[in-house]
Amino acid sequence: MNFTQQYNQFKDRIESCLQTYYHDGIEECKTLTDSVKYSLSAGGKRIRPVLMYAVADLIGCTDQKTLDVFAAALEMIHTSSLIHDDLPGMDNDSLRRGVPTNHVVYGEGTAIIAGDTLMFKAFEIAAEHIYKHNPSEGSVKALWMLGLATGYQGMTGGQMIDMESDPEKTGLDRLILMNAKKTGALIDLAIKAPMYITQTEKENEQPLDVYSKAIGQAFQIKDDILDYESTAEVLGKNTSDIRNNKSTYVTILGIDQAKEKLHACYKKACDALRSYGEKADFLQSLAEYVKDRIQ
Ligand code: IPE
Ligand code: IPE
Ligand code: MG
Ligand code: MG
Ligand code: MG
Repeated sequence: MNFTQQYNQFKDRIESCLQTYYHDGIEECKTLTDSVKYSLSAGGKRIRPVLMYAVADLIGCTDQKTLDVFAAALEMIHTSSLIHDDLPGMDNDSLRRGVPTNHVVYGEGTAIIAGDTLMFKAFEIAAEHIYKHNPSEGSVKALWMLGLATGYQGMTGGQMIDMESDPEKTGLDRLILMNAKKTGALIDLAIKAPMYITQTEKENEQPLDVYSKAIGQAFQIKDDILDYESTAEVLGKNTSDIRNNKSTYVTILGIDQAKEKLHACYKKACDALRSYGEKADFLQSLAEYVKDRIQ
């Protein structure tokens, strides 16, 4: 199987897993259910679940149901972060995943509640699975780390730094910290969840940590480059960093240095997994995909 076939297989797996939750909801909350389903089913690359499944294969995590639940939970949290990121009070964007943003269709109030609902749904499904089917120390740790990656030490903290950043005053260290939190933390969880579940930190934490930091940084550098160089038609989302006066790798470093940094992160990610030999081929190709993607 080549890289694209394998990626699509992982992607199909998370799509069908997420579909099992689309019908959750209650009659009285139909607008909320519709709005949640609207953003969750709009697609996207699903790169976080793909990373999770690929690392699971690499390190021999075979508990497929636990993986599916954590992958779905993570995609719900990520989608919730996008709904909120697009709100008028944040990046004020009107296009996401090729369709109008949640608040454009359902209104700002519903979009706020839809984001909250997806966030809590994620923790609900993970806790339910652990309680009923896998009350192991490893899966409890994965749940704990999911909370840490989502909250102020992670994604929401990074989003706050992003909102308060002024490109005139933001140094590279602050930019790296911001991106490690707002984007890196959920990617880190995707990469390390299989390790937490199998309690194999001793063997895997060091190489996975280097890979994760490099991929997390590369992912946001590329996101910033695409915002600068691409168009809404190609991306399926608005390009809004300049309009919003954002601190990004492009506005802080300039486009050439941003590209150099992206390449350095890509090399670092590939080197990180050498000790696994060809078992890590897919994850190395994934680093290349992050670097060369057009969406
Ligand atoms: C966009 O994430 C937001 C960032 C963290 C940079 P993705 O580029 O993964 O968005 P989707 O899920 O493919 O829509
Ligand atoms: C957002 O970063 C990261 C999140 C936690 C959602 P961006 O604001 O750059 O993401 P896009 O470009 O809108 O997808
Ligand atoms: Mg943003
Ligand atoms: Mg944004
Ligand atoms: Mg962006």
